[in-house]
Amino acid sequence: MRPLFHALLAALLSVPAIAQDSTPKLAAKPTPRAAKPEPKEPGKNLKVFKGQGLDDEALDEAMDFMGASLGVSCAHCHVRDAKQAWTMEKDDQPAKTIARQMILMTRAINKTHFKGDTVVTCATCHNGHAKPEGTPPLMVPGAPRPTPASAEAKLKDLPELDTLLAKWTAAAGGREALEKISTRVMKGSMDMGGGRVLPLEVAQKAPGMQASQLITPRGPFHQGFDGTQGWVLRGGKASPADPQLAAQARVEADLQLPLHLKTHFPTLTVMGREAVDGKEAFAVAAKAKDESRQILYFDAATGLLVRRLSFSSTPLGRTSSETTWQDFRPVDGVLVPFKIVARGPHSASVTTFAEVRHGQPLDDVLFRMPAN
Ligand code: HEC
Ligand code: HEC
Repeated sequence: MRPLFHALLAALLSVPAIAQDSTPKLAAKPTPRAAKPEPKEPGKNLKVFKGQGLDDEALDEAMDFMGASLGVSCAHCHVRDAKQAWTMEKDDQPAKTIARQMILMTRAINKTHFKGDTVVTCATCHNGHAKPEGTPPLMVPGAPRPTPASAEAKLKDLPELDTLLAKWTAAAGGREALEKISTRVMKGSMDMGGGRVLPLEVAQKAPGMQASQLITPRGPFHQGFDGTQGWVLRGGKASPADPQLAAQARVEADLQLPLHLKTHFPTLTVMGREAVDGKEAFAVAAKAKDESRQILYFDAATGLLVRRLSFSSTPLGRTSSETTWQDFRPVDGVLVPFKIVARGPHSASVTTFAEVRHGQPLDDVLFRMPAN
């Protein structure tokens, strides 16, 4: 899963805009059954995806997955016509033909060697390069050599989950201070790279409501979560958010997250030690009620939640996105991250907040999906 803004932002800011999430969209209004058209297979010239039951969104995800795995854009495999319009169905780019063979090859590898599970993907070999590296990586001078002992040490003497949660709660300000926070308003900006720095405002209200506004070159972009439903508002038109984004908003909006982590994630398992920005952290595997999985990283020294790695599935394999929380500062007795670094396969951003306020009264209406 991408951090709250990313899926839609990437689509909004990049050309062409491509949907990225695998979970089906919530229907805006219940449609009568008779009116529902037969699902139509997308594409005019599908060969390897033909008969695979892919809808438009899944096809887009597969394209995004290939592009991100190879570190290329659509133009690597597709051509435009004389009027500069994309003609995705044409096979004029040799890479498209090779990609078809590669899809078949990858399927065959998984079928023969991995019981048909999607284990090997484009990214396994390509790792962000159009031509995969065939030579082992070079050593970094001064870096410690991997030894069996260093691998073992990662798994030795791990703390209990409850110890981690208690330390996190205390580090974040303690139960009492956390419970006093009823609303939070944050003002700052999101740096999307390439000189695109967009003003951002986020409002949160307990229990678990969130609304945000980002000023993009194409106008304001609002996103919200009312405690149950997520929504986005673009160009004056509101629509329900992807369920995956809404699930993420539910966690992000929780102003007492250290006290509620077990409610959000019924299965939490301490997995081992990893480095986050060069510092030791404990990795905890978290499984939500909807079966989605994340890995949460708690700084070993401070006890704070410093990183989240989340996953979403596409027809060609899993993609991941990473959120890192930095620059924690005390505001009214609780620690708040003033910097958020978000990285996904298609976009990366750094959000910095200049101002964080608590206790401002906020009407529930602010968090509900506006009527169209
Ligand atoms: C690595 C190569 C590769 C990249 C990169 C790629 N595609 Fe494709 N695309 C393909 C292949 C291969 C097919 C045909 C799949 C098949 O035969 O079933 C295809 C088919 C399509 C189709 C269906 C065309 C039709 O009508 O038959 C669309 C739409 C499409 N791609 C869009 C995109 C977009 C948008 C991007 C950029 C985000 C993109 N693709 C990036 C390889 C690629
Ligand atoms: C088992 C490893 C492996 C997997 C998995 C794999 N590839 Fe490749 N791919 C290669 C290698 C190696 C080359 C380079 C061949 C060469 O140098 O001639 C290549 C070349 C390509 C090329 C042509 C290179 C270029 O410059 O455009 C495309 C396109 C491509 N792969 C797409 C894909 C896609 C899409 C997937 C996933 C469906 C995929 N590959 C999965 C190993 C792999």
